[in-house]
Amino acid sequence: MSSILLVEDLFSGYGELPVLDGVRLEVTRGEIVSVVGANGAGKTTLLLTISGHLRAHAGRVTFDGQDITNVPAHAAAERGLVMVPEGGRLFPFMTVLENLELGAYHPAARARMRESLEEVMGMFPILAERRSQLAGRLSGGERQMCAVARAVMALPKLLMLDEPSLGLAPIMVDKVFDMVGKLVKAKGLSVLLVEQNVGNALRMCERGYIIEHGGILKTGRGEDLLRDPDVQRSYMGL
Ligand SMILES: Nc1ncnc2c1ncn2[C@@H]1O[C@H](COP(=O)(O)OP(=O)(O)OP(=O)(O)O)[C@@H](O)[C@H]1O
Ligand SMILES: [Mg+2]
Repeated sequence: MSSILLVEDLFSGYGELPVLDGVRLEVTRGEIVSVVGANGAGKTTLLLTISGHLRAHAGRVTFDGQDITNVPAHAAAERGLVMVPEGGRLFPFMTVLENLELGAYHPAARARMRESLEEVMGMFPILAERRSQLAGRLSGGERQMCAVARAVMALPKLLMLDEPSLGLAPIMVDKVFDMVGKLVKAKGLSVLLVEQNVGNALRMCERGYIIEHGGILKTGRGEDLLRDPDVQRSYMGL
């Protein structure tokens, strides 16, 4: 299996504050990988560094066979590395349709915008129903779905999701995760999911990583981590 994303010995942080402490992880093509950890463990920092929003101090990020370490975020996105930020960050005073169209911002995505729109609206009818509604008036779950669909409009090969379940009722968490699973199946995407919701994230992934204090503490198949007594005790309140 070839990897779509390989992260090696990655270090980064904010100014003088070090956060990532030599992270290594891999996502193979068509795979869903979860990175789970507590508040402040470094999950968002990891996604920001991989995606080029935050500068790596050391280490290497290889995406789709090319070294993209410290390539600016927009250039990485054009190559297919697309991030859905925490909370989705839709434009609340624009409609669902306008938000989706904005996802297709680079030339290749723009050229396929009509087909992409038809595809996401066909796969996720709720977005078609709400197409003319302001994004700010969607429910939390619908907003997250719209944010994922907007990312799909940018023609991703790898979707990176920052805590898509945050603040959602359990039933909406299931819907958002189902959506991600459906996209992986239908489009052969790969997914890197970061979550504090350890149980749900480990159940939906093939492999998982536990992140603590900016480093990878443990890795394994999702189902094995779910049964790991240390993981259960530290992260699942069992
Ligand atoms: N813009 C910033 N400037 C300075 N420090 C930051 C900044 N953003 C995050 N940090 C610090 O970096 C560390 C890692 O934060 P990060 O946001 O990556 O954690 P996280 O795992 O995403 O947490 P959460 O689950 O709460 O979102 C924390 O100690 C945090 O306080
Ligand atoms: Mg975070």
